[in-house]
Amino acid sequence: MCGIVGYVGGGQAAEFLVDGLYRLEYRGYDSAGVATLDGHGVLHLVKTAGRVDRLQARLERAPAPGAMGIGHTRWATHGAATDANAPPHLGGDGSVAVVHNGVIENHAALRQRLLADGYRFLSETDTEVIAHLVDHCLKGAGPDADLAADGYEALVAAVAEALAQLRGTFGVAMMFRRRPGVLIAARRGSPLIVGVGRGEHFLASDASPLVGRTGRIVYLGEHELAVVTPGDLRVVHRDQGRVRHRVEQLEIDSGQVELGPFDHYMLKEIFEQPETIRAVMAGRIDHDAATAKFGGLNLAPHELRAVDRFLMTACGTSWHAALVGEYQMEALARIPVEVEYASELRYRNPPLCGHPLVFAITQSGETADTLAALREMKRKGYCTLGLCNVVGSTIAQESDGGIYLRAGPEIGVASTKAFTSQCTVLAMLALYFGRLRHLSFDAGLRVIEQLEQLPEMVAGALETNDAVRRIAEKYAGCDNFLYLGRQFNFPTALEGALKMKEISYIHAEGYPAAEMKHGPLALVDANTPSVFIMPQGPVYDKVTANLQEVKARGGPVIAVVGRGDTEAASLADDVVEVPNVDDFLQPIVSVVPLQLLGYHVALLRGCDVDKPRNLAKSVTVE
Ligand code: M6R
Repeated sequence: MCGIVGYVGGGQAAEFLVDGLYRLEYRGYDSAGVATLDGHGVLHLVKTAGRVDRLQARLERAPAPGAMGIGHTRWATHGAATDANAPPHLGGDGSVAVVHNGVIENHAALRQRLLADGYRFLSETDTEVIAHLVDHCLKGAGPDADLAADGYEALVAAVAEALAQLRGTFGVAMMFRRRPGVLIAARRGSPLIVGVGRGEHFLASDASPLVGRTGRIVYLGEHELAVVTPGDLRVVHRDQGRVRHRVEQLEIDSGQVELGPFDHYMLKEIFEQPETIRAVMAGRIDHDAATAKFGGLNLAPHELRAVDRFLMTACGTSWHAALVGEYQMEALARIPVEVEYASELRYRNPPLCGHPLVFAITQSGETADTLAALREMKRKGYCTLGLCNVVGSTIAQESDGGIYLRAGPEIGVASTKAFTSQCTVLAMLALYFGRLRHLSFDAGLRVIEQLEQLPEMVAGALETNDAVRRIAEKYAGCDNFLYLGRQFNFPTALEGALKMKEISYIHAEGYPAAEMKHGPLALVDANTPSVFIMPQGPVYDKVTANLQEVKARGGPVIAVVGRGDTEAASLADDVVEVPNVDDFLQPIVSVVPLQLLGYHVALLRGCDVDKPRNLAKSVTVE
């Protein structure tokens, strides 16, 4: 949701800004714009409702020259997606231009105050409130505070004074018409990265716009403000004053953010899964001790040994991974697990006795509800672990310890490779905690053997692509789908249904297969396919019985089965065979044809697979 870019240096800012906004498109947005400042002190503002393509077309007609600038993709929160509400927004008489991610909760009260002070608003946005407020604080600092030759001290003080009045979350970038050559960026609860170049600096809300521009980055921390000029970067903390910043290596290459031979990022990411699963396990298996090992748990062995329950919290697909984790932990580690939607947990007050360990599971590391739930759990004194994909993300920074998913950038809005990496990490954690307790050395080795075969098994599941495409052609016209599975594959059913509904806009529901009799069976008819996830395992016979109940009522059945299963093939209308694996790893293999089914159906229905309507990649508002 929303994306920020900024540039100050010797090149043409608009070139980086527009390219960067294209790279940020995946986050979800509905308007875009840039502001640049040219060598004559003229501020150029070009913005539009709609896609970056439209912005680009406008810039071709009315270029925005200048060696510094800021840009934004906005996902509407305050005010509709109109040209007037499109970013950037100007403060005062155009003294300052601002772009902003996040939500300002007290925007209405601030707006009233600023209106009373004579400010005129051109938009309904909370961002414009920030712009006028900064202008107001600058004016309050004296007639020429923005020009003071004091190393930007007055400028920084005025911006800090404005930011201190904001309630809510923000990542902001701004520039000042009378002060060329300096950008100010700041964050509270919304990420910002500075890219360090030669005689130039870049700003971005995530690393993707920086790939190919610079390999050196600085993650701004909470309550930090950066003063950025072509040759200098200074970071000031709200309470600590000037702080030393750490330049880190950007570990994403251009291949990871480009489509390559694929038509869509979603398909690319589905096919990356054998590699991403390999990556998440690399260096984390300890054969000698028949266990998994993790570098960033930040807990002493006796503290880990004392953990007697897990609370896993997440949203969407990551929540489904948590449900898989619940089954894995129970099976391998025999530790009770509670899984809770982050949006619920943040307002709940669950009594947790003993020594719980809280997991925040998230691809982006920025999901507002997951972050709020994590903070609430930390406030209560619980120990927290972040399972995040995006390096340096807020949840990764704020958790007490963590494990990175190493799946590389996930750009398709529908999460695919992050899910399988999450389930793999959770299986490894189950092994780890199992080995701290009752799991024998031999049993540990058996789990490792299965884990190590997983990339190949997922590669085997990808071979179903052509068969799944044919099935998609048969059912793409249906308006409803049911997804049914039991035990480990109940969350797989939920995930399959989510993939279908979010990218094809078809109504799809996932259920534990046996629950069907308690209501959903009423939906079954000749136009409602039921997708059964039923690899061989302890509940195979039970699921087969559920399948027959659907068939008896005239419902078409698509069955995802283990290789060589002739029984299901004789009962179902369509069958997809996946490699056979132990039940604790089945969701990671069985979900692959479900991802492909969602993808092909969406494509056949003409949907925008990577950028489904109404959705954003990273949900940074409550
Ligand atoms: O970045 P997170 O994993 O925290 O995101 C959580 C959900 O917003 C996300 O999984 C969402 O449900 C996806 N669109 C699912 O494909």
